[in-house]
Amino acid sequence: MRIVKVPLDRRSYSIRIGGGLLARLGDECARLKLGRRCAVISDARVAPRYAGPALSSLKAAGFDPLLLTMPAGETAKRIVNVQRCYDQLAAHRLERNSFIVALGGGVVGDLAGFVAATYLRGIPFVQVPTTLLAQVDSSVGGKVGVNLKAGKNLVGAFHQPRLVLADLDTLTTLPERELRAGLAEVIKYGIIADVALFERLERDLSRLLARDPATLGAVIARCCEIKAEVVRQDETETGLRAILNFGHTIGHGLEAISRYGKYLHGEAIAIGMVAAAVISAQQTGLPAAGVERIRHLLERAGLPTRVRLGERQQQALLTAMQHDKKVSAGEVRFVLAKRIGEVVMGQSVPPAFILESLRCQPEPRTSDLRP
Ligand SMILES: NC(=O)c1ccc[n+]([C@@H]2O[C@H](COP(=O)([O-])OP(=O)(O)OC[C@H]3O[C@@H](n4cnc5c(N)ncnc54)[C@H](O)[C@@H]3O)[C@@H](O)[C@H]2O)c1
Ligand SMILES: [Zn+2]
Repeated sequence: MRIVKVPLDRRSYSIRIGGGLLARLGDECARLKLGRRCAVISDARVAPRYAGPALSSLKAAGFDPLLLTMPAGETAKRIVNVQRCYDQLAAHRLERNSFIVALGGGVVGDLAGFVAATYLRGIPFVQVPTTLLAQVDSSVGGKVGVNLKAGKNLVGAFHQPRLVLADLDTLTTLPERELRAGLAEVIKYGIIADVALFERLERDLSRLLARDPATLGAVIARCCEIKAEVVRQDETETGLRAILNFGHTIGHGLEAISRYGKYLHGEAIAIGMVAAAVISAQQTGLPAAGVERIRHLLERAGLPTRVRLGERQQQALLTAMQHDKKVSAGEVRFVLAKRIGEVVMGQSVPPAFILESLRCQPEPRTSDLRP
């Protein structure tokens, strides 16, 4: 087992990464000295596979767990489901020292974390991430929340988990497309902070795609170290934490104009990272060879790296980017790369350059999106 610490004074916690961890959930929670009552929040795809072992482990350690199963998918991340959880927590008489276990991908983690942040003005919670994306990204750092009709993640809080337990065995059942989407975030960490990680990914990509546990464990731990360090320096995203958004400005725009239907998040940011790399070559000195390495690695990971947009879709993309909640005073700011392993934040990019970055890629024939 690998352990990564997230040092945040009294809110410090550890991320444990390895095989067979679900069976140890109860013992790990016992070490946190929490109350006896707890709720495991999961979703309809994850619960049938993993709720059984999680509940058994908690019961064996003396806890009294309640299982709440949410629908699977992004649309579950909404206020009505938060309300349903509150009612059931109250019926099960969860108290201030009771806790919540989020068992699932980023959707469950964000929703269950938000419930934990707000029920009784905040109770402890434990993240048990079961997707690659959740293990390297969403389970770490304490951002929790739900979507509104007006946009993603518009209601939320910062509420750090007390523990993150990333059981590599759960990744064996993850659909291939979800695994590849998670790899987009993994590749992002290489670009923003660690050229050696990027080189390792170039070397070991086939092992990752084959879900080799040793390689997965080492790479996930490195991504968590990077995220932990960023969060340590900037817990509430007043500055540095924005580097985690490399490729996300255009990526979020693409997700929005396709109404969150066409792309998985990782797929949209793969396209966004290539576009950001192209812009970086013009504005921040990323060598052309760096752009090609980024594009090539993403392609090998089976991720899309280009999109062809019609005139109206281009305008829709620029408008959607203006509406991103990270925009301040109407200025879209980009994270750009100086080289692989080093980025700079707060770069303003003329709209014409943004569209150009999407255009100056080898193009497929037909229009990919209908607004
Ligand atoms: N809080 C943060 O800092 C943060 C960071 C990044 C992303 N997010 C959020 O994370 C969400 C995306 O998370 P995700 O990509 O994990 O999606 P997800 O939670 O929807 O999971 C993807 C799909 O895989 C299924 N699944 C999960 N684990 C499985 C397993 N082990 N075996 C088989 N199927 C499994 C789920 O039921 C779901 O259908 C978005 O809502 C995004 O906003 C949050
Ligand atoms: Zn992301």
